[in-house]
Amino acid sequence: MESRKIAIVTGASSGFGLLTSIELAKRGFDVIATMRDLEKTQALFDVAETLQVKEQLTVLPLDVTNSGQIESLKKEISARNSVDVLVNNAGYALGGFCEETTLDEYREQFETNFFGVIAVTQAVLPFMREQGRGKIINVSSISGLTGFPGLSPYVASKHALEGFTECLRLEMKPFGIEVALVEPGSYQTNIWSNGKRVAEKSLKGESPYSTYMRAIESKIEEGVPNYGDPQEVANLIADLCEREKIEPLRFLVGKGIKAIVFIKKWVPWAHWEKAFYKRLLK
Ligand SMILES: NC(=O)c1ccc[n+]([C@@H]2O[C@H](COP(=O)([O-])OP(=O)(O)OC[C@H]3O[C@@H](n4cnc5c(N)ncnc54)[C@H](OP(=O)(O)O)[C@@H]3O)[C@@H](O)[C@H]2O)c1
Repeated sequence: MESRKIAIVTGASSGFGLLTSIELAKRGFDVIATMRDLEKTQALFDVAETLQVKEQLTVLPLDVTNSGQIESLKKEISARNSVDVLVNNAGYALGGFCEETTLDEYREQFETNFFGVIAVTQAVLPFMREQGRGKIINVSSISGLTGFPGLSPYVASKHALEGFTECLRLEMKPFGIEVALVEPGSYQTNIWSNGKRVAEKSLKGESPYSTYMRAIESKIEEGVPNYGDPQEVANLIADLCEREKIEPLRFLVGKGIKAIVFIKKWVPWAHWEKAFYKRLLK
């Protein structure tokens, strides 16, 4: 009997990571579902039990900023002697205006969303290169393609991820490793409630940015009912994992975001900015 393909997913405790782990298991992968807090395993196991795919899931502790845990991941891959897919999904969104965000907060954001991706990628690359095959899917965002006020830590980390991933794709293609970026718009996951830490400073009355931040918040709130079903993103990631070749590099997913990217690319910055303020501050 042919052995199952092996996929590693980071940030599998909730949202896209949980749904992707389940979707890949449903499609016949053995999934190493990693999460930093093992007390959150139950949510994943509950779904897996209902869908009868629990035996295809192995949960490993992995905070992507923890080098000791990344070493343990390498040992797990070594023991299995194979790895087919890595989904770099773990991340969080830090909001806040530049003046009110500390350098340490920016650094922490990059530790997870950028350096964490590099560290986990470096752990799988030697195995994939030797096998001469593998797929790495990096979960970026529309925030990796366009800026937004009050969200520069997150936006900057995802822009960095975009640049890194372009290079990685060009480096690894000759070795049979396919690299792709999934760029979602806004979806109903925990990310928005988890990421408000710094934005809250800017919402307070004494902040010079409070009026501006409240305008941003109310635009975001208006959009919440239109946030997409995260299963859509999990399905896309699983589709890519099943493909032999992944073309092109970038996969935009979500309502209205293709239009945003198109307009940003072709409309001169001055017009883009004017339209942006008109919409945001009207
Ligand atoms: N939802 C959206 O609208 C949206 C849009 C574009 C891109 N994205 C991207 O999608 C990815 C998944 O986010 P989500 O929307 O599914 O949000 P989510 O439900 O909050 O899931 C984020 C996952 O990342 C984990 N995580 C955070 N920091 C970590 C670290 N240092 N090490 C390991 N795991 C860590 C979280 O673990 P804990 O449970 O322990 O916190 C959780 O499992 C992120 O990269 C995000 O930037 C989301």
